[in-house]
Amino acid sequence: MTQLGPYSEKVMDHFMNPRNMGELEGANAIADVGNPSCGDMMRLYLKIENNIITDVKFKTFGCGAAIASSSMLTEMIKGMPLDEALKITNQEVADALGGLPPVKIHCSLMAEEALKAAVENYENRKKEPITAKAS
Ligand code: FES
Repeated sequence: MTQLGPYSEKVMDHFMNPRNMGELEGANAIADVGNPSCGDMMRLYLKIENNIITDVKFKTFGCGAAIASSSMLTEMIKGMPLDEALKITNQEVADALGGLPPVKIHCSLMAEEALKAAVENYENRKKEPITAKAS
């Protein structure tokens, strides 16, 4: 694949063939984040077992850079301990994609924010386990 405009081949690859896209059955963490500057949105599902992210999926309604960042994030964090995953920055996601144009760096922020929000969601669920609804 050749470079298209300002985007690296990796960005184009992850945009055209997103990894881990969809809904995750059995997820025990979920987060929705939005980018207020453009209205794009991302949902991240995690399955966490023994503090390891054993599975992850995403759904992103957004620009190509946001989809590529989401896809790259899922590849980076699959199999990773939570404390390590929480250290990932949007710049690292962008770097793993071979860089993003400066005006598109903010798009990778959703990936970092979604991950942090999903882990927070997991921690909250541990504190308040979801109980069966009273009939
Ligand atoms: Fe909205 Fe990229 S333009 S996330």
